[in-house]
Amino acid sequence: MYTYEELKEFVDHCHRCPLCQTRTRSVMGQGNLHGEILFIAEAPGYNEDRDGVPFTGKSGELFDRLLDEIGMKREEIYLTNIVKCHPPGNRDPYPEEQEACIPYLKYETALLRPKIIVCLGRIAAQRVIRPDYRITKEHGMFLERKNTWLTAVYHPSAVLRDPAKLPLIQEDFRKIRELQKQLTSFPNN
Ligand code: URA
Ligand code: SF4
Repeated sequence: MYTYEELKEFVDHCHRCPLCQTRTRSVMGQGNLHGEILFIAEAPGYNEDRDGVPFTGKSGELFDRLLDEIGMKREEIYLTNIVKCHPPGNRDPYPEEQEACIPYLKYETALLRPKIIVCLGRIAAQRVIRPDYRITKEHGMFLERKNTWLTAVYHPSAVLRDPAKLPLIQEDFRKIRELQKQLTSFPNN
């Protein structure tokens, strides 16, 4: 087993897929390694590619607001992406790029051992939960796998494009917080 610092070193210098040729820098996940909730988004955007930190742009502002509304801060959770390098022009990451990068996410998950995994958006949900996951129909529903609860919510950028989704994602965040409180008060469940 590698340490977290070793894993970050690998990601910082990774050349496993062609996104390494166009990135400014890799974006390792960030947050509390002892946190109970792991959020998984899609890929670094333009701002993240420049800053080296997940969700620093407008979507990040919304993400922070959603956390704040359920009384949480980024420092309490861990946030990462399916691919760690910015796809040019913000296109969806190709399946082969996801495949090349997924071992890092598996490693982050193994080190973190989260109680709850929340996919942000369709791309993450289809990679982590099920290839035919329907975010519109299934967001906010929980399923249990290997002692971890899995769910997905809309991607914050989808909510920014369509404000009608805001109350839906707010409700899903409340449910996530509720579940986390339950799991904390009954730690053996
Ligand atoms: N969108 C994502 O999916 N991830 C980020 O880190 C930023 C924007
Ligand atoms: Fe490596 Fe992932 Fe970046 Fe591809 S996206 S170069 S696999 S860190």
